[in-house]
Amino acid sequence: MPERSASSHPYVFVTRELPGNAVERLRQAAEVEVWPGQDPPPREELLRQAAKADALLTLLTDRVDAALLDGAPRLRIVSNMAVGYDNIDLEAATARRVLVTNTPGVLTETTADFAFALLLATARRVVEGDHLARSGGWPTWHPSFLLGQDVHGATLGIVGLGAIGTAVARRARGFAMRVLYSDSRPRPELEAELGASFAPLDALLRESDFVSLHVPLTPQTHHLIGGRELGLMKPSAFLINTSRGPVVDQEALCEALRSHVIAGAGLDVAEVEPVPDGDPLLELGNLVLTPHVASASVATRARMADIAADAILAVLQGERPVNLLNPQAATR
Ligand code: GLV
Repeated sequence: MPERSASSHPYVFVTRELPGNAVERLRQAAEVEVWPGQDPPPREELLRQAAKADALLTLLTDRVDAALLDGAPRLRIVSNMAVGYDNIDLEAATARRVLVTNTPGVLTETTADFAFALLLATARRVVEGDHLARSGGWPTWHPSFLLGQDVHGATLGIVGLGAIGTAVARRARGFAMRVLYSDSRPRPELEAELGASFAPLDALLRESDFVSLHVPLTPQTHHLIGGRELGLMKPSAFLINTSRGPVVDQEALCEALRSHVIAGAGLDVAEVEPVPDGDPLLELGNLVLTPHVASASVATRARMADIAADAILAVLQGERPVNLLNPQAATR
């Protein structure tokens, strides 16, 4: 495999307009084209751009696979402005010595805030309350109107105690919650700090009042939560997903919500995004659904864009980028 070396006139394709000044910074080192639309560039456009690019700055909506990489002889880095990178075939990139980076860390707290927002919104029926208050459905104060579930003192099950799962566990302490977590292995070094206890997934599902998902999407986590797992949860429990839609079998979830196998769900992600018109999810009253915005704060999105640009700038200067996901692909 020939080394991919520095070009004297590097070309960078950025697949969407970015917040902050990341694009201006890239322009100081390269010719840069930014896809102008709100929607991702169509596949043919992405392939056409990749064919001449030294670097791609991609989002989680842009599929980078072997076919794209095979048609991109100059490509040296794909910098993904997201912590998740299931949109990129990492193995194919590594085999072709294309570096891949992501933007972890910076979005941890912002995403954890949002997971907690969904948890509180589902438990305390915040969205239903807002709709009722605006639509003539606000009765005179009544002792049994719009009753929800307490969050304080409840048991939270965190599936995946990585950076975001850990940040959610810290918040749960402030709500005096009992925290369980499941992961590929126990994390005794974190347990004392977080007041969290390890539990196998099935036990966590049985015991938790809230289950919050914080695993990456991989072949192992695809449909990690399906009909069987939902059936283990308490009928009073809520499922919160700010990770990736396909971690949950959405058809099974719709059925579980419809037939009150669980009490409700808060989803920031879905198997198909945007959720298409007519999707059964949209009919469910015991669901709070948000459009994949868990990391969407002004400060965090600007920092994500900067970090993604920094990785490209480093590679254009012949340096190793931070947040490198495939160090085996580095040729120096
Ligand atoms: C958003 O979902 C991300 O992976 O950063």
